Amino acid sequence: MKGEIELPGDKSISHRVAMLAALAEGPCTIRNFNTGADCIATLNCLRQIGVASEGNLTIHPARLRIPDNPLNCENSGSTMRMFTGFLAGQDIPATLIGDLSLIRRPMRRLAEPLRRMGAVVRLRDDEYAPVVLEEGVKQSIVYRMPVHSAQVKSAILFAGLRFAGTRVSEPLPTRDHTERLFEHLKIQPGKVNIPPFQYVVPGDPSSAAFLIVGALLRKNSDVTFRNLLMNPYRVAYMRKLHQAGASIEIANRKMIQNELVADVRVRSGVLLSPIQILPEEAPLMIDEIPVLSLLGAVCGFEVSGAAELRHKESDRIEAMVCNLERMGLRVEEKEDGYRVWPGSVKESMAETYGDHRIAMTFAAAGMEIDDPECVKISFPDFISILERLNS
Ligand code: S3P
Repeated sequence: MKGEIELPGDKSISHRVAMLAALAEGPCTIRNFNTGADCIATLNCLRQIGVASEGNLTIHPARLRIPDNPLNCENSGSTMRMFTGFLAGQDIPATLIGDLSLIRRPMRRLAEPLRRMGAVVRLRDDEYAPVVLEEGVKQSIVYRMPVHSAQVKSAILFAGLRFAGTRVSEPLPTRDHTERLFEHLKIQPGKVNIPPFQYVVPGDPSSAAFLIVGALLRKNSDVTFRNLLMNPYRVAYMRKLHQAGASIEIANRKMIQNELVADVRVRSGVLLSPIQILPEEAPLMIDEIPVLSLLGAVCGFEVSGAAELRHKESDRIEAMVCNLERMGLRVEEKEDGYRVWPGSVKESMAETYGDHRIAMTFAAAGMEIDDPECVKISFPDFISILERLNS
């Protein structure tokens, strides 16, 4: 794989910046907004409460209104969790629904802290969507997170916007984009006034991971990613690859809008040491674990303490183990992780489980996948970019 590329904007930041633009005092312009179906779901939810957006991309804040219909978060856990927090913070009752994957994902972790803040939230079987938000929050909270989830942490921070004093602590750190955006936009919970702003979303490092691993799996690759988000809680996977022997060079580091951004050059080389992801490291590379484990075929791979992978768009431990075995590799599945031994791979068709990250993992390996469409969730142009860099 060869070439230079600037990737579409980071998905995590895109969701958050759209919600904050909805609270601003005038139209906000966001460039390089992630155009995946997840972020579009957030824009559609905003539209249903009166916030219009247009073109590429201007968000027009409005007096928020109660939606007429349930809000469809489709496949997006980020939308469902963070938008529930956002609505609870603005005291807008709503029902949030999702697709067959999303309605099987855990939501009590979200309802719990919001209830402690005084919100009235109902869930199916007190765990699953639909999320019915009947009343918003009435007070701030000091909360210790029982699970590692940046979405839930952000939901609490959004919910706490009208009151001073909300603080969230975590057993292990997770991505901190919400905190950084609050700082950048000078948001003080309790007296939020956000002047209209412009924002350029840096390239998504989780999308880059599929292309980086794809490049490392091929001979003579030399790919440069320009203006990639390098937030330390998002690029731990690059350090792992570097430790395993991968050639990854980082240049032109700069802070833009309170986030670190840089150019990243990846070249083929020999991966010598096995990749091992420890429990305390897993939250920092939760979205990249599937694609990193593909390199297990070359140098060996093991992850533990990553049971959260079972609660993503699919059960990603099951999906990876099943597909890696189909490729002829020796794999061991554990409750909270899996292990892959080096070996030679055979041609097979990968089953995506309707999960964009599983699809991109096996497409990066050059395999046929049963549902290429699902990459549209976070990276609609993935296949064409992969082909372009590969040609
Ligand atoms: C995200 C947090 C992570 C991640 C997801 C996006 C975010 O989920 O897997 O793709 O934007 O905060 P959890 O909050 O469930 O860990």
